[in-house]
Amino acid sequence: MSHVLIAGASRGIGLGLTQAYLARGDHVTAIARHPAQAPGLIALKTQYPDTLHTVACDLTSLDASDTIVKALSHHPLDRVILNAGISGPKDQQPEHLGTDDITQIFLSNAIAPLRIARALRPLVPSGGVMAFTSSILGSVQLALAPDMALYGASKAALNSLIRNWATEQGEALDIRLLALHPGWVRTDMGGAQAPLSVEDSVRGLVRVIEQAAGQAGCDFLDHQGQALPW
Ligand SMILES: NC(=O)c1ccc[n+]([C@@H]2O[C@H](COP(=O)([O-])OP(=O)(O)OC[C@H]3O[C@@H](n4cnc5c(N)ncnc54)[C@H](OP(=O)(O)O)[C@@H]3O)[C@@H](O)[C@H]2O)c1
Repeated sequence: MSHVLIAGASRGIGLGLTQAYLARGDHVTAIARHPAQAPGLIALKTQYPDTLHTVACDLTSLDASDTIVKALSHHPLDRVILNAGISGPKDQQPEHLGTDDITQIFLSNAIAPLRIARALRPLVPSGGVMAFTSSILGSVQLALAPDMALYGASKAALNSLIRNWATEQGEALDIRLLALHPGWVRTDMGGAQAPLSVEDSVRGLVRVIEQAAGQAGCDFLDHQGQALPW
């Protein structure tokens, strides 16, 4: 039985990951802003009362890491999945963006996940995995996000922070760091026209995360395990 932490678990891909790991028999700590108001998490808590533990936390708050570390009371984490993200305003042309929009998306999609990952790192034993839900739109080389340039830039920033953190750890990096593209998925963010169901995306993501365990490194992969250009 692994202990898996999933941040951003109230709905969409995060809720799907929570369900998938619980169904495997793992112990899940699910972080959500308001778990007591998240119908999906409430239903899972009824189904898995002994193996699902929820923690209320806004991941962008300054004390988020302290709240999460305290809730874990030193229990080791085999997998950490920092999944929460926001898509930002509809019009993402730089000249139309306000300071609050810019701050919120970089804080939510890039800074907060790294801040929390760094705080949780001592709890992850050698061979563990810390995965971040990134996006193919964050690939600087592919540049697929002209209509969602701010979102793409925030995911590129996330990827940059992950890679630099891997470099910073150097020889001490004995876990796998993954930036993951879940595919285009039917969620509130992905929209109804997206081709992939949450179940199909999550099945792939769990396989990729589990295959990555046991080897140190840092990779940008999609839900089928294909490497993506940074
Ligand atoms: N759907 C796609 O096609 C797609 C494609 C590529 C990448 N992604 C990435 O995949 C991840 C999940 O996306 P999704 O499609 O499942 O989106 P979603 O349905 O909009 O769900 C987003 C999740 O993130 C949580 N969240 C956002 N900000 C948070 C904060 N400050 N504190 C705590 N939780 C927070 C939300 O919680 P609340 O319920 O409290 O808002 C919700 O659980 C995101 O990082 C997204 O960028 C999605």
